[in-house]
Amino acid sequence: MSIIQIIKSRRSIRKFKDMPVESEKIDHLIEAAIWAPSAMNSQPWAFVVIQDRSTLKDLSDNSKKFLIKNMEKFKVLEKYKSMLERDDYNIFYNAPALITIYAKNYGLYPKEDCALAAENLMLEAHAIGLGTCWIGFAREYMDLEETKAKFKVPSEYSAVAPIIVGYPEIVPDHGSRNNPIILYRK
Ligand SMILES: Cc1cc2nc3c(=O)[nH]c(=O)nc-3n(C[C@H](O)[C@H](O)[C@H](O)COP(=O)(O)O)c2cc1C
Repeated sequence: MSIIQIIKSRRSIRKFKDMPVESEKIDHLIEAAIWAPSAMNSQPWAFVVIQDRSTLKDLSDNSKKFLIKNMEKFKVLEKYKSMLERDDYNIFYNAPALITIYAKNYGLYPKEDCALAAENLMLEAHAIGLGTCWIGFAREYMDLEETKAKFKVPSEYSAVAPIIVGYPEIVPDHGSRNNPIILYRK
């Protein structure tokens, strides 16, 4: 596939086969991530990889509780409240792996750099037959000091991109995009 075919055929995956992702493939995705460009080549990223099912379940439960409790701070998420309240809604869709990209508070644009790393990771995953989905619902909880301490993340790092990874069981048909808004062209 050409790069544009990979870009256009990547979809967020929310149903996974019940099989683990090999550690070499996780390493390979991290390798793709770190080849992203970064401001001043600061490479401010660091990764937390979780493949333990019960840890993932706890993280999903705790992230949901945290968002519901602090809903007034995340008003935009109010439309998802009833979904987040459901016991059977796992924010990680029972994926076998979660890679969270953290940005070190360093360089000019650490979060933008990490978002580029995230896109590299998701595109390469798709290119090798894996599925991914960026899980924004997990970000606030992954960014708490107590959560960071649990996963040995120093406090100068901020959670940017929690990305689930697994072998896709269901791939959505095709995506759609609005026409680009070109504000100026000369
Ligand atoms: C910053 C960010 C946060 C997201 N958070 C979630 C999320 O919490 N749960 C989810 O199911 N999808 C999440 N997504 C996936 C988007 O819903 C998805 O990318 C979008 O609907 C476009 O679909 P596509 O990725 O298949 O092209 C997130 C995507 C981004 C970029």
